Amino acid sequence: MNEDITRRAFLAGLGVAAGGVMASRAEPAPTQPAPVEAPRERDPFLGTGGAPLVVGEPCLQAPGETSMGVSWAVSGLAKGVVEYADNPAMEGAKTAKSGGYGLVPIDVEALQVRLTGLKSATQYWYRTITTPFTDYSNIYDAKLGEPVVSAVHTFTTPGVAAKARFCVINDTHRRWKPFQMAVRKIKELSPSVVIWNGDATNTTQRKKTAVETFLAPPIKDRDWQAGIPVFFVSGNHDFRGSWISKKEEVVLPRDPAERRGEEWDLKWNFAQRLGDMALIGLDTGEDKPDAHPKWFGLANFEPYRKAQAKWLRRELARPEIASAKHKIVFCHIPLYADPASVDYPHDGVKIDPEDYAWWSRECAALWGPILDEAGVELVVCGHTHRFRFDPPAPGRRWAQVVGGGPEQGPGRFPTVIEGFIEDGRLRLVVHDVLGDRIVFSAAL
Ligand SMILES: [Fe+2]
Ligand SMILES: [Fe+2]
Repeated sequence: MNEDITRRAFLAGLGVAAGGVMASRAEPAPTQPAPVEAPRERDPFLGTGGAPLVVGEPCLQAPGETSMGVSWAVSGLAKGVVEYADNPAMEGAKTAKSGGYGLVPIDVEALQVRLTGLKSATQYWYRTITTPFTDYSNIYDAKLGEPVVSAVHTFTTPGVAAKARFCVINDTHRRWKPFQMAVRKIKELSPSVVIWNGDATNTTQRKKTAVETFLAPPIKDRDWQAGIPVFFVSGNHDFRGSWISKKEEVVLPRDPAERRGEEWDLKWNFAQRLGDMALIGLDTGEDKPDAHPKWFGLANFEPYRKAQAKWLRRELARPEIASAKHKIVFCHIPLYADPASVDYPHDGVKIDPEDYAWWSRECAALWGPILDEAGVELVVCGHTHRFRFDPPAPGRRWAQVVGGGPEQGPGRFPTVIEGFIEDGRLRLVVHDVLGDRIVFSAAL
């Protein structure tokens, strides 16, 4: 009933304009049957109409030493804030609003708040407060519903004094069964941070799909991101689909304060200390050259990779990063060919029969020498959906590990790649989450 009232009021509000539009159309001849109006769905931006608001678990994104992003799914038009404090009782809690200066964003599918001014390597407690707009037919008599308050969750910011343990997932591709297996393993290992190393998606045509992928997956442990901050690294599939260019509405980019003006568009690149580690995120982009006909002229990754080379050189020279004992890079497409298989780089020189690129010669040429010079120890990749480890080789001082994909046998399995410091060395452990076994463990 509310819906009808709202719609009538909305149409009445548009009366003059609607009349003008109708007048310009040809009237149907009297002998023709009256056109049947298809039932229209309620415009969600007019308010929830009193429907119960479903609020998703908070997801920690884009973690920084002094900032933390929180995104969560909503089922209808709502505003949201995050309350946070340095104690579990939430005494003296502060409130952070969505967005930056000026108007606070509201949305019908996902809300995002960034906490700033935090202390490095410090534990915080937080909760989300989400309030629906039951009626937003117009701003003057918009109505709010009852706020939904989440449970209190906790996180710790990264930094030099933080516990140095990370986990990596990659190529999850919205395959929920292997995703649940990986998430369960992550919860068991309890790392300080997770790196989601690309191909989280397949082809994304609607925001709803992205919200499900990143914020509200249909799995048992859907609260996994409420206590473990996630760094996001794009894979080639995370650039596919008619909606995907707007993914920052669901996956928060890095805090703008980390970026310089000319680096404004490097939205997800990160270089962060985690104890004795420096974690560095790079984006290899699409897996074919920009001029490939499949991209319809929409690919602009070649200048992006060059801009990242400049950014990488500068970040690696930053004292905090340069002084890290262990430097680890995360990027989706491998930077080095599998010595045991056919060499198909993504530069169009050689294309495999299925038009699939197995590694990025362009990224290797642009970034590889910089990684060598800076003493990067390990590059963590995905994309091939098959675990492998390449030790350092002549001309390449870093090791490369490639995580498995969502396929479940034969010989294929999803992985959680774990890294931590043990007796002053970086230990790399690769978990096969299908077989629940360790397939690789070495001190690098
Ligand atoms: Fe993939
Ligand atoms: Fe990929």
